[in-house]
Amino acid sequence: EEVDCTGLHVLPGLIDSHVHLREPGDPKVETIETGTKAALLGGLAAVFDMPNTSPSITDTARLDWKREHVKGRAWCDIGFYVGATKANIAGLAELELQPNVCGIKVFAGSSTGDLMVEDDENLERVMRAGRRRISYHSEDEYRLQARKPNYTTGMPYRMHAEWRDVETAFLGTRRLMALARKTGRPAHILHVSTAEELEYLKDYRDVCTVEVLLNHLTQTDEAYDRLGGYAVMNPPIRDQRHLDAAWAAVADGTVDTVGSDHAPHSRESKEKPWPTGGSGLTGIQTIVPLMLDHVSAGRLSLSRLADLMCAGPARVYGVVGKGRLAAGYDGDFTVVDMKRSRTIEENWIVSPCGWTPFAGQRCTGWPVMTVIRGRIAMREDEVLGSPEGAPVRFRG
Ligand code: DOR
Ligand code: ZN
Ligand code: ZN
Repeated sequence: EEVDCTGLHVLPGLIDSHVHLREPGDPKVETIETGTKAALLGGLAAVFDMPNTSPSITDTARLDWKREHVKGRAWCDIGFYVGATKANIAGLAELELQPNVCGIKVFAGSSTGDLMVEDDENLERVMRAGRRRISYHSEDEYRLQARKPNYTTGMPYRMHAEWRDVETAFLGTRRLMALARKTGRPAHILHVSTAEELEYLKDYRDVCTVEVLLNHLTQTDEAYDRLGGYAVMNPPIRDQRHLDAAWAAVADGTVDTVGSDHAPHSRESKEKPWPTGGSGLTGIQTIVPLMLDHVSAGRLSLSRLADLMCAGPARVYGVVGKGRLAAGYDGDFTVVDMKRSRTIEENWIVSPCGWTPFAGQRCTGWPVMTVIRGRIAMREDEVLGSPEGAPVRFRG
């Protein structure tokens, strides 16, 4: 088939290395099928799925279930995180080498799900257990969320509380970096969201890589008044100072990957008064349009975007074959039209939860085609063929 790409840009197949597709457990808000279809429509070629499902993905049996389950259901390629728990530490070395495992996710703080490894002793055991990079979600980020003033009752966002909590948040990252140096095991620090951490981590490049989320590059605390519970995520959206720091870190090379942390929750749960509602925002379908809009606004280049969403994830997670820029492409492309301007509409969202915190936002730059392993899988808002997504392979 002949495809006319006149005036378009061809990027390597983009990867969202941080999504929660909720299977098994919560098909009313998302499934493998709907989440990967959303990914494809949004211009992604692959996603890496988090383990805090119900039940969580913490042993080979559940991992095998998931690998089997995505067959004939996934519309784009998919990699799997395995969760660390206090009970599975001895098995982590073997688990992380299972085919299609992108890494071990360590929740060092409360989150959606029941995965928790919060004390230094167990954290160190986790870090010593395997060989590959662990992915770290800090405890103190969560405390910060829990202390946020109750915006649903109209209280203004308090800068003083925010400042103190940012200090607290910083402790989690410092603690992890001390353990990383001690054990010699690098960590990919997920959703780094404060200026302080980003500055600090520059001195730890030997033992860390850094993820920043789309939301922390896009939204500030004004969103709380506008969106209420639909702005609540963990770590939280912060003020302009942190957003500026995140962009500075993208520019100076501190950031290795950008993900969406797509974390669907029901409308009912998002409409509950804070802090009883679900924490997490959808983003799998909107991350590429929004990042392209940032390109149009001059905040980063298209090649830096390809780096953050393809070469970066490939390098950090050790993807075999996909998007290894030096090794050449493997037939995965995202084709974008930088001249197209389009508004994100809620009725475009295919996740069953049915909402986006970016409804009404206009984006200049839009993904128009995704090619996976040489086959056109999405073109102009249409998914083509059948769900032929395959598990991503990672280096052992
Ligand atoms: O906002 C969040 N949502 N943060 C997390 O830690 C988990 C995620 C989810 O799974 O809902
Ligand atoms: Zn996390
Ligand atoms: Zn997450």
